[in-house]
Amino acid sequence: MSYDYKVLRKISAKFTVLTLILFSFSFSKGQTIPTDDAVISAGKALFENNCTQCHGVSDDVVVGPGLKGVHARRPLPWLIKWIKNSTLLINSGDAYANEIYNKFGKTQMQSFDFKDAEIISIVAYIKSESEKVPVVAAAAVPQGGGGVQQVSSNDGVSNNFILVLFVLVLVIILIVLVLILSIITKYLNSSTNISDIDKEVIESKFDLSAVYNSKAFKGIATFAFILVIGKACLDGLVGIGISQGYAPTQPIAFSHKLHAGEYKIGCNYCHTGVYKSKSASIPSANICMNCHNAIKQESPEIQKIYKAISTGRPIEWVRVHNLPDLANFNHATHAKVGGIECQQCHGPIETMEVVQQYSPLTMGWCINCHRETAVNGKDNHYYDALMAAHTKSQDGNAVKEPMKVKDIGGLECSKCHY
Ligand code: HEC
Ligand code: HEC
Ligand code: HEC
Ligand code: HEC
Ligand code: HEC
Ligand code: HEC
Repeated sequence: MSYDYKVLRKISAKFTVLTLILFSFSFSKGQTIPTDDAVISAGKALFENNCTQCHGVSDDVVVGPGLKGVHARRPLPWLIKWIKNSTLLINSGDAYANEIYNKFGKTQMQSFDFKDAEIISIVAYIKSESEKVPVVAAAAVPQGGGGVQQVSSNDGVSNNFILVLFVLVLVIILIVLVLILSIITKYLNSSTNISDIDKEVIESKFDLSAVYNSKAFKGIATFAFILVIGKACLDGLVGIGISQGYAPTQPIAFSHKLHAGEYKIGCNYCHTGVYKSKSASIPSANICMNCHNAIKQESPEIQKIYKAISTGRPIEWVRVHNLPDLANFNHATHAKVGGIECQQCHGPIETMEVVQQYSPLTMGWCINCHRETAVNGKDNHYYDALMAAHTKSQDGNAVKEPMKVKDIGGLECSKCHY
């Protein structure tokens, strides 16, 4: 199913380019926002492919501000300049540009190599979304710190919605048919002057409707109906790319609740890299053997550890957390330098029988924490000078804000992306 979407997207992208070319002919340099459906849907495609990881067309902040009504807030030429290259506009001293840049913690919006017509189509889309009746707009706009996937999931859900509707209509038609059939047979049965042969036919028809009314048929219909709805819901979830709560079954029934909870074995006893390197690392069977060469030798689960060691084939733990390759995350930076507890990101691991992904691990999640969390200066003199400078640079009479991760570059794209 997702493959089909990709093909459809490609086709629609081609179509978009075509409409845009046509559009740029008809729309020379005039500066009004068009209301054409073709332009708006072209703008929608561009927006969804380039902007949704940072913006929604609502009042909610994702990474950048909500863009609802921005067509009214800013003149079109300004928007074109901004989207083409916001840094240029900021450096030119534009007051508004500098104001939002500072307001959003100096997060740089990337540049887009778009033609004017393309940007105008995006603005046309934003305008049409902004002017929709609130209820509709709320449904069309992804909420919260979501990414690109959320929007594609909206497509998925609406497609599934159509499917469900289709099935519903089918079921209703069936019910109506059955009703009509039983009314006709009743009517014919009650009329007296029919030949015997006709009667036989009528009776046989009645048998057919009995099938429709039978428990078995109803059971099958209900089952099919539930199946379709269930699949629709599942597809919706997979489309969002939700892996929060992901808790795969592991090859050995290892319990954090038992080891980290009851026996209070320190996290870094097993995850040896967590305070000194990028990766926390999963313990090798040798670490288990420190205890299990003596403890519970007879348990079939422990036997699996012995087998791994004797065959030299490592235990194939299933990875729970998985950032995409484009993102760079370092445990030592967070757990050691930042002084953040494992539980803040991984949840109450020491109570989990089976590990599950506790946080969403989206870009919005990383960025929000960098906006809100103060740099840990305790026992770390590396930051002394910076912190002093930070405090000094603030207004004498303003409340002194502690230095946040954003103030040391925690919102710069290159810190997290290679
Ligand atoms: C990587 C994140 C990111 C992406 C992608 C992004 N923006 Fe932005 N955008 C921002 C941030 C952050 C701001 C706030 C200003 C700043 O910090 O530079 C912003 C500001 C804006 C503003 C000014 C809003 C206002 O309230 O005045 C507009 C308009 C805008 N972006 C449009 C777009 C469009 C259109 C796209 C897609 C083509 C896009 N942005 C893609 C991050 C992004
Ligand atoms: C006795 C060794 C041991 C101790 C102690 C331990 N872990 Fe683990 N941990 C493992 C093993 C083995 C796995 C891989 C199997 C699994 O996921 O359950 C794992 C997996 C994990 C994962 C998931 C890794 C992934 O695949 O994404 C996290 C997160 C984690 N541990 C955090 C912790 C935290 C936090 C603590 C301390 C509260 C801790 N662990 C204590 C052995 C240990
Ligand atoms: C510091 C000591 C220690 C280490 C290291 C350790 N365990 Fe354990 N493990 C225990 C103790 C104690 C028990 C509880 C034994 C009992 O219930 O009598 C236990 C129980 C278990 C059990 C439950 C066995 C059963 O049948 O009840 C499994 C499975 C297990 N450990 C797997 C592992 C794996 C896999 C590793 C390596 C990643 C590991 N352990 C590392 C101390 C340890
Ligand atoms: C700031 C959030 C954060 C904190 C704090 C944190 N982790 Fe993680 N952890 C992550 C992320 C994000 C990943 C996924 C990394 C990836 O896929 O590259 C991860 C992955 C892991 C893994 C899987 C193996 C690996 O290294 O990728 C283990 C094990 C783990 N963490 C253990 C711990 C332990 C133990 C602590 C505490 C000492 C801890 N984490 C603290 C965010 C955090
Ligand atoms: C719970 C809060 C929290 C979360 C969630 C978090 N971080 Fe951080 N991050 C911090 C803190 C605190 C620091 C500052 C550490 C220090 O003092 O250098 C930091 C620093 C960093 C740095 C170094 C920045 C610099 O200027 O040196 C990078 C890169 C980074 N984080 C990436 C990520 C990524 C990627 C994610 C999401 C997968 C993430 N962080 C999630 C709190 C968080
Ligand atoms: C604090 C860390 C952090 C910062 C700063 C950051 N990103 Fe990200 N970004 C991530 C993480 C983590 C992901 C992967 C999240 C996911 O898969 O949902 C991501 C995903 C993305 C994606 C989506 C890729 C895809 O395949 O969907 C784009 C595009 C992106 N970032 C661009 C930017 C730009 C541009 C900036 C600078 C304004 C930026 N990021 C700043 C952590 C960060």
